[in-house]
Amino acid sequence: MQLFGLSEGKRVVGEIDKAIADALAREAARNQAAQTTRDAEVAKRDAMTARHSAAVARFAKAIASAAGLPPRDQELVHTAGLLHDVGKFTFPDHTLTGTTLTEEDWALIRSHPQRGADIVKRVHGYAEVAEIVLCHHERVDGRGYPRRISGDDIPVLARILSVADCFDVMTARDSYRSPISIDEAIAELRRVSGTQLDGHFVEIFVGVVTGSGVDFHHADDEDLETELRRQAPRGSVARTARH
Ligand SMILES: [Fe+2]
Repeated sequence: MQLFGLSEGKRVVGEIDKAIADALAREAARNQAAQTTRDAEVAKRDAMTARHSAAVARFAKAIASAAGLPPRDQELVHTAGLLHDVGKFTFPDHTLTGTTLTEEDWALIRSHPQRGADIVKRVHGYAEVAEIVLCHHERVDGRGYPRRISGDDIPVLARILSVADCFDVMTARDSYRSPISIDEAIAELRRVSGTQLDGHFVEIFVGVVTGSGVDFHHADDEDLETELRRQAPRGSVARTARH
């Protein structure tokens, strides 16, 4: 399966493709359903995930920048945004395209941060990105998954990514539910501020959205390529202190 098509991250893309292929092969061995493909639905799902990932990368980087985090952290969270849902590519196709999901399907869906982190950490130099991917569904009140960690125990860049992720899911035209307006999405972010999301980053994001400076429109197919072009090569990003 080809996930990302641009050349900047060719080595990374190759390694991630291989990791996904391995994971798919394991899944196929366990579950015959993994071999079932419904091409149109799957293509739609893949395009949706690619656009969503690009938007989350862009929003998360904007939050990190507005929060005054160093450029390296801004690049890290951007990369993690591009890859945060990569674990979903290891699912049997029906899991993300079907309308009726079993408890088993939901358990599988909840495994995507761990599966994504397992894939990403196989890429040399991506351990920190993998940690952010792992934690992007944790909640500050400790009721998230997979580890149910809370507050400051959740890596700061994962808390940023969660805000960006929630906003895009609510406002995107191509999600499985009807999009809501930016004002409604801001109200919802504030409603879950302090329980699901880190209130500090919610307010920073609201400031960025309402002040603009970042394009918060959903620009469809070219989003992913644009965001890949914006990526700094990993080696160019100096190490900084951990959060
Ligand atoms: Fe996710």
